[in-house]
Amino acid sequence: MMRISMSLPKKLLSDFDEVLQDRGYSSRSKGIRDALNDYIVRYQWMNEMEGQRIGVITTIYDHHYTGVMENLAEIQHGYREEISASMHIHMTDKYCMEVIVVNGDVNQIRDLTEKMMKLKGVEHVKLTSTANGESLDPEHSHAHGHSHVH
Ligand code: NI
Repeated sequence: MMRISMSLPKKLLSDFDEVLQDRGYSSRSKGIRDALNDYIVRYQWMNEMEGQRIGVITTIYDHHYTGVMENLAEIQHGYREEISASMHIHMTDKYCMEVIVVNGDVNQIRDLTEKMMKLKGVEHVKLTSTANGESLDPEHSHAHGHSHVH
């Protein structure tokens, strides 16, 4: 085991402690280890996807944060081919939610997702996707789509 020290915003730590308490963790270190593992697995999972995907990117941001709306728009305009549609929801006085429907090469979709994740003012970004079926030839879909009953 290695020891590290880190600084965290008060609110983040108190929210984290609350979750740990709800989940019955007695050790903050154990909670942080599990959270780091989840983070790593989620990243690896996103990186292992390949091919043509269809899905949804959900993002929540503080629209008062200077430049965040312009930056989000700027980024999305670079992925016009992959973005089929988007919807904006004025969630609260402070927060907006954007739901972006994507369809295309997973490398592009991943780049788009990661660029949004890095933006200041953006509090949440989640990509959910599945194979878009474009690569399935008729034989392949036959093999998966029908089972023979004997
Ligand atoms: Ni809004």
